[in-house]
Amino acid sequence: MGQFRFITAGESHGKGLVTIVEGMVAGLSLEAEYINKELKRRQQGYGRGPRMEIEQDKVEIISGVRYGLTMGSPIALFIPNRDWQNWQEQLSITPLEKEAEPVTRPRPGHADLAGVTKYSLKDIRPIMERASARETAARVAAGAIAKRFLEELGIVIHSHTIAIGPVGCQPFAQGKLPQAISINWQQVEASPLRCADAELEKKMIAAIDRAKAEGDTLGGVFELIATAVPIGLGSHVSWERRLDGRIAQAIMNINAVKGVEIGAGFALAKIKGSQAHDVIEPNPPVIGKVSRSSERSEGEATKQSLPWHHATNYAGGIEGGISNGEEIIIKAAVKPIATLAKPLSSIDLRSGEVAKAHYERSDICVVPAAGVIGEAMLAIVLADACLEKFGGDNLKETLANYHNYQLSIGKN
Ligand SMILES: Cc1cc2nc3c(=O)[nH]c(=O)nc-3n(C[C@H](O)[C@H](O)[C@H](O)COP(=O)(O)O)c2cc1C
Repeated sequence: MGQFRFITAGESHGKGLVTIVEGMVAGLSLEAEYINKELKRRQQGYGRGPRMEIEQDKVEIISGVRYGLTMGSPIALFIPNRDWQNWQEQLSITPLEKEAEPVTRPRPGHADLAGVTKYSLKDIRPIMERASARETAARVAAGAIAKRFLEELGIVIHSHTIAIGPVGCQPFAQGKLPQAISINWQQVEASPLRCADAELEKKMIAAIDRAKAEGDTLGGVFELIATAVPIGLGSHVSWERRLDGRIAQAIMNINAVKGVEIGAGFALAKIKGSQAHDVIEPNPPVIGKVSRSSERSEGEATKQSLPWHHATNYAGGIEGGISNGEEIIIKAAVKPIATLAKPLSSIDLRSGEVAKAHYERSDICVVPAAGVIGEAMLAIVLADACLEKFGGDNLKETLANYHNYQLSIGKN
């Protein structure tokens, strides 16, 4: 990792979030509205708390873009926190005569206890402000730039919710892997849970309502699918260059994600090799006029130029740490939110006595939003891997390299 990098700063209730993105080529068209659309998608989803109604994120592009095109220089982004006005005392940058009441009852499942101990603090507030997933808005902004770049190569990334709590997670039958299904992405985008199955969605909504009524929360599973990914991203030659490892790290780094699967993942462990691997089949030779790559969409260019394909895609598009030309398919397990309206038992750090954990306004279920964050993180890894493979300082140069590569592998 390193061609395309980003760093974020900002507290959950501070003045705002800052992202600096480095390594994007010059000449990519980029507008704030494009980033805002992604930020809005992150804020939606049945089960979010009331804060989402306050925020409605809008990005300000501070640097790196001129006349709607990237300049190749670092792109600085600022997303103001609208809620900041209500938190100026708790998040004051200058010292105050009278500080806000400290938070002293760590929430099980959060960074609270390990954080205050590690940083030698008496107040949990600084830990919870940065451990909060508010920071993921900054990642989605960086991811939007990566997505915009990937679009130029014809690569598209989608996410959808496949389970909320116990609803939807079908245990795989012994010896059988799930079949690929075609997903209606328009339906997913219109769905409050980003779920492609309307019947399942009703049950998921009922489960979230029940959890809310009980003062509880729910996790779930989302899936990411990247289409038209060229063969050859990542490498088997060194551990840190493996694409599967890079993706797993990026997805596991999302707040509350506790499991990542590539392709059929854990189900592969239960079956035989003869059942698990994706058979390679030749493509029929293209007869007649061979269209020039400029006449085809990017996805078509990839598919048509290769003389073979895999019959199935249990590998999830990656073999030996290298993209194999099939769709990249990732699943992630999201744990239930740790801030509970009916708090779990904890201690008060001041007295050491048993106490109920701290509670403040919180989400009930965030799986759809986590999926959108997953899209951003996957886009960042794939943009980085594409820049590493195709190089270039200007988009034109990168695209020329990309097309030359496609032509060169088509000859094999
Ligand atoms: C989109 C999103 C929103 C979240 N909202 C909340 C929230 O409102 N309250 C909460 O306690 N945790 C929330 N979380 C989860 C915490 O950020 C996460 O559980 C915490 O960082 C500890 O989990 P970890 O062990 O994965 O870091 C959210 C996570 C995501 C992905």
